[in-house]
Amino acid sequence: LVRGATGPDLEGRHVVVSAGGTREPLDPVRFLGNRSSGKQGYALARTAAARGARVTLIAANTALPDPAGVDVVPVGTAVQLREAVLKAAADADAVVMAAAVADFRPAAYAAGKIKKKDGQDPDPIVLVRNPDILAEISAERARPGQVVVGFAAETDDVLANGRAKLARKGCDLLVVNEVGERRTFGSEENEAVVLGADGSETPVPYGPKEALADTVWDLVVPRLG
Ligand code: CTP
Ligand code: CA
Repeated sequence: LVRGATGPDLEGRHVVVSAGGTREPLDPVRFLGNRSSGKQGYALARTAAARGARVTLIAANTALPDPAGVDVVPVGTAVQLREAVLKAAADADAVVMAAAVADFRPAAYAAGKIKKKDGQDPDPIVLVRNPDILAEISAERARPGQVVVGFAAETDDVLANGRAKLARKGCDLLVVNEVGERRTFGSEENEAVVLGADGSETPVPYGPKEALADTVWDLVVPRLG
């Protein structure tokens, strides 16, 4: 792993990172999920620990080894992720929402396995909205000067969509990926632009998720209260 001359600039800080993707159960054997691997969030946790931070990693359905020296909290659903993030954020200096949170969950959970019925079409799946965790923690900072970072995958006018999302969420930084031929999900590499609420725009060239993670911390450090 090749890293820059990054010192222990997160020493004495507590940072919270969410990673992976939530799963919203339909019945005991099925869920609605997404393709997030958790690798970007784990890279953020590893790099923060390397820079001296105390790190809480809220891991939604990941299959990755626990990073050394990091407090890992496993969760399943968006509602569980919200609980875990809010709890950990209470004394956090920075919160980075790298997890892919399901926007909707099934309105009902079937306690028994859903079965086919002869000659009948399936029932539609009714969905309800999940809480927007990033918007909530941005609006109600648990600590003055707490830095909040979001992630967004966008298509079409990526920067305009990113700017609008940053404003809507109220976070300090938004890491925007273009979804395209170079797939983000599951890959070891990433390419992004980090937008700041102060109007800043930091392009991060295609490269390892660790490099993007270090750039995120480079931008968080000067914003810490
Ligand atoms: N996020 C969240 N809670 C949700 C949905 C998203 O905290 N219920 C966070 C994600 O972790 C990410 C950021 O918000 O850091 C942006 O997620 P994204 O899905 O791009 O935003 P949405 O507002 O859901 O917009 P869209 O309709 O484009 O999916
Ligand atoms: Ca979404």
